[in-house]
Amino acid sequence: MNLGINNIGRHFRWLTIVFIGAQVILMGQINYEEKLVPDYTLPNPLITNQGVPINNMKDWLEIRRPEILQQFAELMFGKVPTDLSIVTTFKQTKQVLNAIDGKAVLKEIELSFSNGTRSIEASLLILLPINSDKPVPLFLGTNFYGNHTIHKDTSISITLNHVNNNDELNIHNNRADDASRGGRAHRWPIENILQRGYGLGVVYYGDIDPDFDDGFQNGIHPLAYLPGQTKPRKNEWGSIAAWAWSMSRIMDYLQTDEHVDHNRVSVIGHSRLGKTSLWAGANDQRFALVISNDSGCGGAALSKRQFGETIQVINTNFPHWFCENFKQYNERESELPFDQHMLLALVAPRPLYVASASEDQWADPLGEYLSVAHAGEVYKLFKQEGLDPSFKPMPDQPIWKGKLGYHLRRGTHDLTSYDWEQYLNFADLHLNKN
Ligand code: GCU
Repeated sequence: MNLGINNIGRHFRWLTIVFIGAQVILMGQINYEEKLVPDYTLPNPLITNQGVPINNMKDWLEIRRPEILQQFAELMFGKVPTDLSIVTTFKQTKQVLNAIDGKAVLKEIELSFSNGTRSIEASLLILLPINSDKPVPLFLGTNFYGNHTIHKDTSISITLNHVNNNDELNIHNNRADDASRGGRAHRWPIENILQRGYGLGVVYYGDIDPDFDDGFQNGIHPLAYLPGQTKPRKNEWGSIAAWAWSMSRIMDYLQTDEHVDHNRVSVIGHSRLGKTSLWAGANDQRFALVISNDSGCGGAALSKRQFGETIQVINTNFPHWFCENFKQYNERESELPFDQHMLLALVAPRPLYVASASEDQWADPLGEYLSVAHAGEVYKLFKQEGLDPSFKPMPDQPIWKGKLGYHLRRGTHDLTSYDWEQYLNFADLHLNKN
């Protein structure tokens, strides 16, 4: 079995140190027992930092929402530098009128991020249903190994940037080539998405910031350094915040694309990229629907439950994902002034979908459900129904109430066609597709 660095934690339960090449992976003490979840108190999203209760939509939107957003930015994901001088430009570099076996119009848009002296490029792949005569709603997602892995269509360009090695996908020496075409196609049921009348936009996250800890020397971060600066400040963006920021830059582009209905763009991500879609959706209210698939610790799962992956473990194994300030909460979950239900609440009153997988205990499926249920308190302010925190979700029985959707898929950590089927149905319902 090839566990791969990202799956190690899913297979070891207790204090474990794993050596992979030169890298040491600390798993910490992982709890998978419900009865060992510590007593915890969730901060109330509807009470301000000064203790003032929030009881109407206006105060939520104008007072409390910005306050919570600011806390997540300062203490967890990291702020985009306020003096950011990165200019993003877009250029269409390819159009294929009969891609995906004649089912799609394919476009590639080159995103160039420049600070005047240094620039990086990313490729946005857009697939639109072939015969649409009006702007289409679109799912916007990030992928792990390059746009070419989502379908075997040879017109999709292959990234030249660093890609994490993966034996299964034939990716070696951190370079992708034809051997990995379509290697992750099962996560992207493109034909079904197109047939249902949706477009799909994807970007390879490593084009924005390669996913390994190099002290923020490559990717987007150095473009924001002031003279003499060598890394982000303690409260400034880690990699997840950078990936999420790029989703907003793509949204800037989508607003200019006459083939896309930019009022009906859903942001979606799996796992670390589910954490990313949540942070993107929390920050940017232009995303009409926010979807988190198996995002776990630092995503939808409640941190204070300390079930499965913990803050200390995630910060140790992936020191570049969050900002430096977040490390002060290693083994100090009780001191966190927020929990992930408040991140989800930032999506209100827009529709939100969170999904888990029954065998993905590392991501704490129950903690993900509880998080959505507690975010419901904010949705109720908007006269929307919430989910019942005392309810126990059953596998393969989606629970939808008001603008909130949740399902626990039977199976392992993955993004499957079952997950997509629910997202498409939910989008049909909430984005009023006609
Ligand atoms: C690791 C990590 C998780 C993350 C996952 C992924 O398992 O511990 O937090 O969600 O990788 O992104 O695949």
